[in-house]
Amino acid sequence: MSDLGMKMDLPRPEMFDFHGVTMVHYFTDSWDKVQNFQARPDDILIATYPKAGTTWGSLILDLLYFGKTSPERQTSIPIYDRVPFLEIYIPSVKSGIDQAESLPTTPRIIKTHFPVQFVPKSFWEQNCKMVYVARNAKDNMVSYFHFDRMNMVQPDPGDWNSYFHRFMEGKLVFGSWYDHVNNWWKKKQTYSNIHYMFYEDMIEDTGREIDKLCFFLGLSPSAEEKNQIMYGVQFDNMKKNDMTNYSTFHVMDFKISTFMRKGEVGDWKNHFTVAQNEEFEEDYKKRMTDHTLQFRTEV
Ligand code: A3P
Repeated sequence: MSDLGMKMDLPRPEMFDFHGVTMVHYFTDSWDKVQNFQARPDDILIATYPKAGTTWGSLILDLLYFGKTSPERQTSIPIYDRVPFLEIYIPSVKSGIDQAESLPTTPRIIKTHFPVQFVPKSFWEQNCKMVYVARNAKDNMVSYFHFDRMNMVQPDPGDWNSYFHRFMEGKLVFGSWYDHVNNWWKKKQTYSNIHYMFYEDMIEDTGREIDKLCFFLGLSPSAEEKNQIMYGVQFDNMKKNDMTNYSTFHVMDFKISTFMRKGEVGDWKNHFTVAQNEEFEEDYKKRMTDHTLQFRTEV
């Protein structure tokens, strides 16, 4: 296990504007190194707004590439070491960029929460495949709120109502959900190596979405391999598995909330008041003007 599994007592960071995006220093301190990262043509980038299903997508990718050849990874290497988080930099811990550069296996599967304009240029130059997972704004917001409560490298979320408004203003780490999902969607129209997935589709039919992903990646797992992947990536199995449930990642306080929390579509209904929902919907219509990008808030 990498140093990310060490016990750490970290101060909650302050948010600031970074090239027009709200960030905290843990994700900007290695900016120059990250921007100069040398991607390889077979690198795969998994990109998401935080809490959209990154870990789920990462595990599917890891199993597709290594499930058969290195099954021991599943019980011995935490997912955050198998799929390094490109931009993370926590003092005295091996940075995401160093982890990515020293990955012993190929292809390298690398995770980022960067808005599309922050992705290092070598990924585009090398025509790398990118998998983007998007989740409906309401559930994404709820999941992010609970995550911010328990994760010490994130700012304190404050109360739900103020968080709700900060989400709409785009004042959360990695910026605006609206810009993130829209700009990645727009990029996909000109860069054909982006596969855009939806969390809600994965919930509805995981197997179908794995098939689409395999088509994009040019992979054809056997029926048995696919069954094993489907089993490994079920919510309950990921929640039980210490290598995927982040229980070994000590910047998180599981007494406050768990990482594998609910894994559902529609939990927003337990959080949004009627008035908040109305305010949200009115604002949403004004911002989400590209109607080719549609999200479902129930399945
Ligand atoms: P909830 O907080 O709503 O439960 P990320 O990996 O981007 O941080 O996203 C975490 C969210 O994805 C959490 O949402 C987590 O429970 C959910 N998730 C992770 N694996 C999942 C799975 N196999 N099925 C459904 N949801 C999953």
